[in-house]
This record gives sequence, structure tokens and C-alpha cells, in this order.
Amino acid sequence: MTARWSERQVAMLREMGVQHFWPLQPEVPPEASAVARPALPAEPVSAAAAVAQALPQRALAPAQAGAAPLGPRPIGVETMDWPTLRDTVTGCEACGLCRGRRNTVFGVGNTRARWMLVGEAPGEQEDRLGEPFVGRAGQLLDRMLAATGLTRAEDEAERQVYIANVIKCRPPGNRNPLPEEVAQCEPYLLRQVALVQPTLILAMGRFAVQSLLKSSEPIGRLRGRVHDYHGVPLVVTYHPAYLLRNPADKALAWDDLCLARELVQSRA
Ligand code: URA
Repeated sequence: MTARWSERQVAMLREMGVQHFWPLQPEVPPEASAVARPALPAEPVSAAAAVAQALPQRALAPAQAGAAPLGPRPIGVETMDWPTLRDTVTGCEACGLCRGRRNTVFGVGNTRARWMLVGEAPGEQEDRLGEPFVGRAGQLLDRMLAATGLTRAEDEAERQVYIANVIKCRPPGNRNPLPEEVAQCEPYLLRQVALVQPTLILAMGRFAVQSLLKSSEPIGRLRGRVHDYHGVPLVVTYHPAYLLRNPADKALAWDDLCLARELVQSRA
């Protein structure tokens, strides 16, 4: 990993709150940077069953007494174009989260971006505005992106990212989404990935990481190497909200961004 940052990057890193700009992590050994495939079940299982099996119980909200019954999953999501997909998400009633939402939070950015960022679920601000990562965590995310030479705003295609969440509706009280809610929502993210065709997915935070990789490993064990999400290289990093609470780990998140950037540049 290179230790040379431009003055601008050093300024941006300062803004991110990273105090040290040299590589804090040892170089990723070659065998570790090879694409690692997530352990998928040998036999096909339903998405709901797979997610329920794969997600660790401690990552999930406790079963809700009287949790809302599931509605029908929309059909044909896997062939939808962007307008149809967006409209389908807007009208989605496939799980009980639709009852409490003010807005669905579909995604933002360049629909052919090279970088696709995936978070957990909308919070209060996102639910109000219908855009992902607009609260304090989103402001830190924007600074992290700027430090990497990226933005969610309209810009040159090379610089603009696409941001989405695993879950498109706000869970009440910001609780962790339930496995059945993840399963009902999963086709939407899969279709977004298929339409964007990103060079790289950056999965942010334990929930998104464990949901996408169908893994119960903690982030600390999954970061620093390249995984695979349906054929797309995936790099793991901490959630910006976690970084706000644990600023010392911003340096590790910077290492993750550097790994992601190296991968994208190597595939330019
Ligand atoms: N946290 C997330 O994971 N996603 C958002 O959109 C906002 C906060």
C-alpha cells in the first residue's frame, strides 16, 4: 500500500479525523487479496431461509411480538429497468416496514458507477428525505469519499459513486432489520447491482457485510481482502456511524478505502 498522499488527500484525511497518514496495516499478503468467495450453501435454499440461516442471531433484532405479516414479494424484479424497479420499491408492501415509513430510500448516485456503496437501512433523516446517508454518518461518509477522490454528487462518471442500502425502509426505532425483512428486500439490491454493474462493492458495517456475504464473521476478520458478491468484488469496511463512535478506527477505514481504490484502478 502506498504511503504517499497528495496535500489535498492529507487535508481530506485530517477532515475525516484520521491522524496518521502512513499505512497502519501491513501490506495485504498476495494470497489474502485474492478474491475470496463467501461460503454459500451447497443446496439451493430459499432466500429467506438462507438469510435466516446465515445471519448470526446477535446481529438481528429479537423476534417482535406480533411482527407484521409479510406481503407478497413483487415478481419479475430480476428483469426490471431502473424506472420500474424504483416504482416497485416505492410501492413495496412485502414486509411490515412499509407501515412505518415516510419514504422508501432507493439509492443515489451514478447508475453506472464503478464504486457501489452498500449500507444497512435508512435512519430517521433518510426516511424523511428519501436519500441514503444524509445524517451525521452520511456527512462523514461524504468526507471519506472526498478523501478518496469520489462523490455522490453529479460529477465525472469516474468520480461518482452509487449508494444503496440492504433495506429500503426504515426499521422502527432504528432496530436491526429482521431476517425476513432482509429476504423480502434482497431482490431489489441484487437488481441494483446487476443494473449498475459496479467494478467494486464497498459494504459498510457489520449488518450489511454479514447480510451480503451470508457470514457471521466480525468485520475485523473480513476486512483487508477482496470477497465476491454475485461476481462483483466486495471490500468490507466499518459503518460511518461506528466510526463516529470509534474515531480511532478511521485509520483502518482509510486502509479499506485504499484497498478498494487499488482494486478499482487495477480494473480500469
Ligand atoms: N445508515 C445506513 O446504513 N444507511 C443509511 O442510509 C443511513 C444510515
